[in-house]
Amino acid sequence: MSDELQGKRVLVIGGSRGIGEAAARVAGEAGCRLLIAGRNEARLSAAAARLGGEVPAFPVDVTDEGQLEGLFEKAGPIDHLVVTAASAVLGPLSDQETEGLRGLLESKVIGQFLAVKYGAPRVREGGSITLCSGIVSRKPLPGAGAYAAAGAAIEAAARVWALEYAPLRINVVVPGIIDTPVWNDLMPEEAKQSHFGGVSAQLPVGRVGRAREVGEAIRFLMTSEFLTGTTLEVDGGHHLV
Ligand SMILES: NC(=O)c1ccc[n+]([C@@H]2O[C@H](COP(=O)([O-])OP(=O)(O)OC[C@H]3O[C@@H](n4cnc5c(N)ncnc54)[C@H](OP(=O)(O)O)[C@@H]3O)[C@@H](O)[C@H]2O)c1
Repeated sequence: MSDELQGKRVLVIGGSRGIGEAAARVAGEAGCRLLIAGRNEARLSAAAARLGGEVPAFPVDVTDEGQLEGLFEKAGPIDHLVVTAASAVLGPLSDQETEGLRGLLESKVIGQFLAVKYGAPRVREGGSITLCSGIVSRKPLPGAGAYAAAGAAIEAAARVWALEYAPLRINVVVPGIIDTPVWNDLMPEEAKQSHFGGVSAQLPVGRVGRAREVGEAIRFLMTSEFLTGTTLEVDGGHHLV
Protein backbone atom coordinates (compact mmCIF):
# COMPACT_ATOMS: atom_id res chain seq x y z
CA MET A 1 0.00 0.00 0.00
CA SER A 2 1.22 3.49 -0.85
CA ASP A 3 2.36 5.50 2.15
CA GLU A 4 1.15 8.87 0.85
CA LEU A 5 -1.19 9.25 3.83
CA GLN A 6 1.32 8.04 6.43
CA GLY A 7 1.40 10.46 9.36
CA LYS A 8 -1.06 12.92 7.79
CA ARG A 9 -3.47 14.62 10.17
CA VAL A 10 -7.07 14.07 9.13
CA LEU A 11 -10.02 15.76 10.83
CA VAL A 12 -13.41 14.16 10.22
CA ILE A 13 -16.35 16.29 11.31
CA GLY A 14 -19.14 13.74 11.65
CA GLY A 15 -16.59 11.04 12.43
CA SER A 16 -18.50 9.52 15.35
CA ARG A 17 -20.56 7.16 13.20
CA GLY A 18 -21.71 6.22 9.72
CA ILE A 19 -19.81 7.44 6.68
CA GLY A 20 -17.59 9.78 8.72
CA GLU A 21 -16.44 7.00 11.03
CA ALA A 22 -15.79 4.76 8.03
CA ALA A 23 -13.75 7.49 6.34
CA ALA A 24 -11.74 7.89 9.54
CA ARG A 25 -11.16 4.13 9.75
CA VAL A 26 -9.94 3.92 6.15
CA ALA A 27 -7.64 6.91 6.70
CA GLY A 28 -6.37 5.42 9.96
CA GLU A 29 -5.57 2.15 8.22
CA ALA A 30 -3.55 4.18 5.68
CA GLY A 31 -1.44 5.55 8.53
CA CYS A 32 -3.19 8.88 9.17
CA ARG A 33 -3.38 10.52 12.55
CA LEU A 34 -7.09 10.94 13.17
CA LEU A 35 -9.15 13.63 14.83
CA ILE A 36 -12.93 13.32 14.97
CA ALA A 37 -15.74 15.72 15.85
CA GLY A 38 -19.48 15.50 16.41
CA ARG A 39 -22.07 16.68 18.93
CA ASN A 40 -22.65 13.74 21.24
CA GLU A 41 -19.72 13.08 23.61
CA ALA A 42 -20.65 9.47 24.39
CA ARG A 43 -20.92 8.72 20.68
CA LEU A 44 -17.53 10.37 20.11
CA SER A 45 -15.84 8.36 22.89
CA ALA A 46 -17.31 5.12 21.58
CA ALA A 47 -16.12 5.89 18.05
CA ALA A 48 -12.66 6.89 19.29
CA ALA A 49 -12.43 3.53 21.09
CA ARG A 50 -13.56 1.63 17.99
CA LEU A 51 -11.04 3.49 15.86
CA GLY A 52 -8.33 2.50 18.33
CA GLY A 53 -5.18 4.25 19.45
CA GLU A 54 -5.27 7.80 20.68
CA VAL A 55 -7.95 9.56 18.64
CA PRO A 56 -8.67 13.08 19.90
CA ALA A 57 -12.44 13.61 19.81
CA PHE A 58 -13.91 17.12 19.86
CA PRO A 59 -17.51 17.84 20.80
CA VAL A 60 -18.85 20.41 18.34
CA ASP A 61 -22.15 21.42 16.79
CA VAL A 62 -21.50 22.66 13.25
CA THR A 63 -24.54 24.93 13.44
CA ASP A 64 -22.71 26.96 16.11
CA GLU A 65 -20.14 29.21 14.41
CA GLY A 66 -18.17 29.85 17.59
CA GLN A 67 -17.85 26.14 18.33
CA LEU A 68 -16.70 25.42 14.80
CA GLU A 69 -14.12 28.20 14.86
CA GLY A 70 -12.93 26.88 18.25
CA LEU A 71 -12.66 23.35 16.87
CA PHE A 72 -10.12 24.40 14.24
CA GLU A 73 -8.13 26.38 16.82
CA LYS A 74 -7.96 23.31 19.06
CA ALA A 75 -7.26 20.88 16.21
CA GLY A 76 -4.30 22.88 14.87
CA PRO A 77 -2.82 22.28 11.42
CA ILE A 78 -4.37 19.44 9.45
CA ASP A 79 -3.62 17.79 6.12
CA HIS A 80 -7.11 16.68 5.17
CA LEU A 81 -10.55 17.80 6.29
CA VAL A 82 -13.61 15.61 5.76
CA VAL A 83 -17.09 16.87 6.61
CA THR A 84 -20.00 14.42 6.82
CA ALA A 85 -21.92 16.04 9.69
CA ALA A 86 -25.61 16.55 9.04
CA SER A 87 -28.73 16.08 11.08
CA ALA A 88 -31.59 14.05 9.61
CA VAL A 89 -35.07 14.82 8.37
CA LEU A 90 -37.23 12.90 5.90
CA GLY A 91 -40.87 13.31 4.94
CA PRO A 92 -43.16 15.40 2.74
CA LEU A 93 -42.78 19.14 3.10
CA SER A 94 -46.42 19.40 4.20
CA ASP A 95 -45.52 17.35 7.32
CA GLN A 96 -42.21 19.04 8.10
CA GLU A 97 -41.63 21.12 11.20
CA THR A 98 -39.56 24.20 10.38
CA GLU A 99 -37.17 23.30 13.21
CA GLY A 100 -36.26 19.99 11.55
CA LEU A 101 -35.76 21.66 8.17
CA ARG A 102 -33.58 24.32 9.72
CA GLY A 103 -31.58 21.66 11.55
CA LEU A 104 -30.71 19.87 8.32
CA LEU A 105 -30.11 22.97 6.22
CA GLU A 106 -28.06 24.65 8.93
CA SER A 107 -25.91 21.59 9.58
CA LYS A 108 -25.46 20.37 6.01
CA VAL A 109 -25.31 23.73 4.20
CA ILE A 110 -24.19 26.41 6.66
CA GLY A 111 -22.15 23.85 8.60
CA GLN A 112 -20.14 22.90 5.52
CA PHE A 113 -19.80 26.57 4.47
CA LEU A 114 -18.35 27.42 7.87
CA ALA A 115 -16.19 24.30 7.98
CA VAL A 116 -14.57 25.45 4.74
CA LYS A 117 -14.31 29.06 5.91
CA TYR A 118 -12.56 28.21 9.20
CA GLY A 119 -10.98 24.93 8.09
CA ALA A 120 -9.34 25.90 4.80
CA PRO A 121 -6.71 28.19 6.41
CA ARG A 122 -5.69 25.28 8.67
CA VAL A 123 -5.10 22.80 5.84
CA ARG A 124 -1.41 22.40 5.07
CA GLU A 125 0.02 22.62 1.57
CA GLY A 126 -0.82 19.56 -0.51
CA GLY A 127 -3.92 18.81 1.54
CA SER A 128 -7.60 18.60 0.68
CA ILE A 129 -11.16 19.13 1.83
CA THR A 130 -13.87 16.58 1.09
CA LEU A 131 -17.49 17.63 1.56
CA CYS A 132 -20.67 15.56 1.45
CA SER A 133 -23.75 15.80 -0.76
CA GLY A 134 -26.19 12.97 -1.54
CA ILE A 135 -27.65 11.38 -4.66
CA VAL A 136 -31.10 12.94 -4.05
CA SER A 137 -29.50 16.19 -5.26
CA ARG A 138 -30.06 14.82 -8.79
CA LYS A 139 -32.41 11.83 -8.31
CA PRO A 140 -35.57 13.19 -6.69
CA LEU A 141 -36.89 11.12 -3.79
CA PRO A 142 -40.25 12.19 -2.32
CA GLY A 143 -39.66 13.34 1.24
CA ALA A 144 -36.03 14.31 0.68
CA GLY A 145 -36.47 17.94 -0.42
CA ALA A 146 -34.17 19.36 2.24
CA TYR A 147 -31.45 16.78 1.51
CA ALA A 148 -31.77 17.47 -2.23
CA ALA A 149 -31.47 21.23 -1.74
CA ALA A 150 -28.60 20.94 0.72
CA GLY A 151 -26.63 18.56 -1.48
CA ALA A 152 -27.11 20.65 -4.62
CA ALA A 153 -26.04 23.77 -2.73
CA ILE A 154 -22.84 22.14 -1.52
CA GLU A 155 -21.95 20.69 -4.93
CA ALA A 156 -22.37 24.13 -6.53
CA ALA A 157 -20.52 25.97 -3.79
CA ALA A 158 -17.63 23.49 -3.79
CA ARG A 159 -16.95 24.23 -7.47
CA VAL A 160 -16.64 27.91 -6.55
CA TRP A 161 -14.45 27.19 -3.52
CA ALA A 162 -12.14 24.97 -5.58
CA LEU A 163 -11.28 28.18 -7.46
CA GLU A 164 -11.36 30.56 -4.48
CA TYR A 165 -9.07 28.39 -2.35
CA ALA A 166 -6.82 26.97 -5.09
CA PRO A 167 -4.38 25.28 -4.96
CA LEU A 168 -6.18 23.69 -1.98
CA ARG A 169 -8.27 20.89 -3.49
CA ILE A 170 -11.95 20.77 -2.56
CA ASN A 171 -14.17 17.89 -3.70
CA VAL A 172 -17.59 16.48 -2.91
CA VAL A 173 -18.55 12.87 -2.37
CA VAL A 174 -22.11 12.03 -3.39
CA PRO A 175 -23.34 8.95 -1.52
CA GLY A 176 -26.27 6.93 -2.77
CA ILE A 177 -28.37 4.98 -0.29
CA ILE A 178 -25.88 3.79 2.32
CA ASP A 179 -26.71 1.54 5.26
CA THR A 180 -25.69 3.72 8.19
CA PRO A 181 -27.27 4.37 11.60
CA VAL A 182 -29.06 7.49 10.30
CA TRP A 183 -31.71 5.28 8.72
CA ASN A 184 -32.64 3.94 12.17
CA ASP A 185 -33.32 7.53 13.23
CA LEU A 186 -35.43 8.18 10.14
CA MET A 187 -37.74 5.14 10.11
CA PRO A 188 -38.59 1.88 11.91
CA GLU A 189 -36.57 -1.25 11.02
CA GLU A 190 -39.32 -2.79 8.89
CA ALA A 191 -39.76 0.37 6.80
CA LYS A 192 -35.98 0.64 6.43
CA GLN A 193 -35.67 -2.94 5.14
CA SER A 194 -38.53 -2.36 2.74
CA HIS A 195 -36.94 0.89 1.49
CA PHE A 196 -33.53 -0.76 1.09
CA GLY A 197 -35.16 -3.70 -0.74
CA GLY A 198 -36.95 -1.38 -3.17
CA VAL A 199 -33.80 0.64 -3.86
CA SER A 200 -31.65 -2.50 -4.23
CA ALA A 201 -34.03 -3.89 -6.84
CA GLN A 202 -33.56 -0.73 -8.95
CA LEU A 203 -29.79 -0.40 -8.70
CA PRO A 204 -27.36 -1.86 -11.23
CA VAL A 205 -25.32 -3.35 -8.37
CA GLY A 206 -28.42 -4.87 -6.75
CA ARG A 207 -27.82 -3.60 -3.21
CA VAL A 208 -27.50 -0.51 -1.08
CA GLY A 209 -24.06 0.76 -0.12
CA ARG A 210 -21.77 0.26 2.85
CA ALA A 211 -20.25 3.16 4.78
CA ARG A 212 -16.77 1.80 4.11
CA GLU A 213 -17.32 2.04 0.36
CA VAL A 214 -17.88 5.79 0.73
CA GLY A 215 -14.91 5.99 3.11
CA GLU A 216 -12.69 4.45 0.44
CA ALA A 217 -13.93 6.96 -2.14
CA ILE A 218 -13.13 9.77 0.31
CA ARG A 219 -9.63 8.42 0.66
CA PHE A 220 -9.34 8.44 -3.15
CA LEU A 221 -10.41 12.11 -3.23
CA MET A 222 -7.89 12.95 -0.50
CA THR A 223 -4.97 11.44 -2.36
CA SER A 224 -5.81 12.25 -6.01
CA GLU A 225 -3.72 15.34 -6.60
CA PHE A 226 -5.32 16.06 -9.99
CA LEU A 227 -8.89 16.15 -8.62
CA THR A 228 -10.52 19.35 -7.46
CA GLY A 229 -14.01 20.82 -7.77
CA THR A 230 -15.33 17.40 -8.64
CA THR A 231 -18.34 15.45 -7.44
CA LEU A 232 -17.88 11.70 -7.05
CA GLU A 233 -20.99 9.54 -6.98
CA VAL A 234 -20.66 6.48 -4.78
CA ASP A 235 -24.13 5.16 -5.35
CA GLY A 236 -24.15 1.73 -7.00
CA GLY A 237 -25.25 3.38 -10.24
CA HIS A 238 -28.23 5.18 -8.68
CA HIS A 239 -27.59 8.25 -10.86
CA LEU A 240 -28.24 6.08 -13.94
CA VAL A 241 -31.69 4.76 -13.09
N1 LIG B 1 -26.62 7.25 4.72
C1 LIG B 1 -27.10 7.58 3.52
O1 LIG B 1 -27.87 6.83 2.88
C2 LIG B 1 -26.71 8.90 2.89
C3 LIG B 1 -27.10 9.14 1.58
C4 LIG B 1 -26.75 10.33 0.97
C5 LIG B 1 -26.04 11.29 1.68
N2 LIG B 1 -25.68 11.04 2.96
C6 LIG B 1 -24.95 12.09 3.66
O2 LIG B 1 -23.74 11.57 4.16
C7 LIG B 1 -23.39 12.29 5.36
C8 LIG B 1 -23.16 11.29 6.48
O3 LIG B 1 -24.34 10.50 6.61
P1 LIG B 1 -24.41 9.25 7.59
O4 LIG B 1 -25.37 8.31 6.98
O5 LIG B 1 -23.04 8.81 7.95
O6 LIG B 1 -25.10 9.94 8.87
P2 LIG B 1 -25.00 9.59 10.43
O7 LIG B 1 -24.80 8.12 10.63
O8 LIG B 1 -26.20 10.21 11.05
O9 LIG B 1 -23.68 10.34 10.91
C9 LIG B 1 -23.68 11.72 10.99
C10 LIG B 1 -22.50 12.19 11.81
O10 LIG B 1 -22.53 13.61 11.87
C11 LIG B 1 -22.62 14.04 13.23
N3 LIG B 1 -23.47 15.23 13.27
C12 LIG B 1 -24.77 15.33 12.94
N4 LIG B 1 -25.21 16.59 13.10
C13 LIG B 1 -24.15 17.30 13.53
C14 LIG B 1 -23.95 18.65 13.90
N5 LIG B 1 -24.97 19.55 13.87
N6 LIG B 1 -22.74 19.05 14.32
C15 LIG B 1 -21.71 18.16 14.36
N7 LIG B 1 -21.83 16.87 14.05
C16 LIG B 1 -23.03 16.45 13.64
C17 LIG B 1 -23.19 12.83 13.97
O11 LIG B 1 -22.87 12.81 15.34
P3 LIG B 1 -23.82 13.57 16.42
O12 LIG B 1 -25.24 13.26 16.04
O13 LIG B 1 -23.41 13.05 17.73
O14 LIG B 1 -23.50 15.02 16.26
C18 LIG B 1 -22.52 11.69 13.23
O15 LIG B 1 -21.19 11.54 13.67
C19 LIG B 1 -24.52 13.27 5.62
O16 LIG B 1 -24.19 14.50 5.04
C20 LIG B 1 -25.68 12.64 4.86
O17 LIG B 1 -26.67 13.59 4.50
C21 LIG B 1 -25.99 9.87 3.60
